[in-house]
Amino acid sequence: MSDPAPDAPPLLPLPLSMALRRAEPADLPWILHQEGRPEFAAGIVRWSPETHQLKVRDPDVAYHLAVEPSGQPAGYAILTGLTLPHRAIYLQRIVIAAPGQGRGRIFLRLLCEEVFSRLHAHRFWLHVFPGNDRAMAVYRSLGFQVEGVMREAVLQGERYQDGVVMAMLDREFSCI
Ligand SMILES: CC(C)(COP(=O)(O)OP(=O)(O)OC[C@H]1O[C@@H](n2cnc3c(N)ncnc32)[C@H](O)[C@@H]1OP(=O)(O)O)[C@@H](O)C(=O)NCCC(=O)NCCS
Repeated sequence: MSDPAPDAPPLLPLPLSMALRRAEPADLPWILHQEGRPEFAAGIVRWSPETHQLKVRDPDVAYHLAVEPSGQPAGYAILTGLTLPHRAIYLQRIVIAAPGQGRGRIFLRLLCEEVFSRLHAHRFWLHVFPGNDRAMAVYRSLGFQVEGVMREAVLQGERYQDGVVMAMLDREFSCI
């Protein structure tokens, strides 16, 4: 292939392509490493390794990885509420290893497909800490709506934090 002409516009980066795969206990070291990164501490609640060991085997819980075409994990998410009768799946956690490059939006889109199309959920919901603007931008961009604020609902370290409740219903997902 010949080089582009000097005045040609710069080549656009290839669109990101990712797939969803269920995480297994063997993936926990990678997940724990991401969860422990200091730059993510303000946005998420961390679980101990022992809690992850229990949760990853819990039928009410599903761990998912976003994987690059190379098979390398790009992020993880934890869904809960799978065995409850309400068909309301809770996004317990979502983390992208290299944030701010468009992967989070793709990952969440894949999770929405999993939740609504495969698990036939009626509702997909989450909490986000006020001030986590990047996360909220991703949730909003896919159609999640703010439903309210749970005041001082989450004990993070020694401080209670508010939790902004955001959710999407199945009929809203089918519109996007
Ligand atoms: C939240 C998270 C999963 C999002 O994934 P991501 O790959 O960073 O998100 P994307 O790059 O796909 O999209 C980020 C969007 O936020 C926007 N954004 C970035 N910083 C922002 C800010 N300070 N305020 C508002 N919007 C912001 C970007 O412009 C982009 O929107 P666009 O696609 O319309 O341009 C990721 O940042 C992460 O893992 N953060 C640490 C853990 C965390 O906080 N998890 C969420 C817990 S609720």
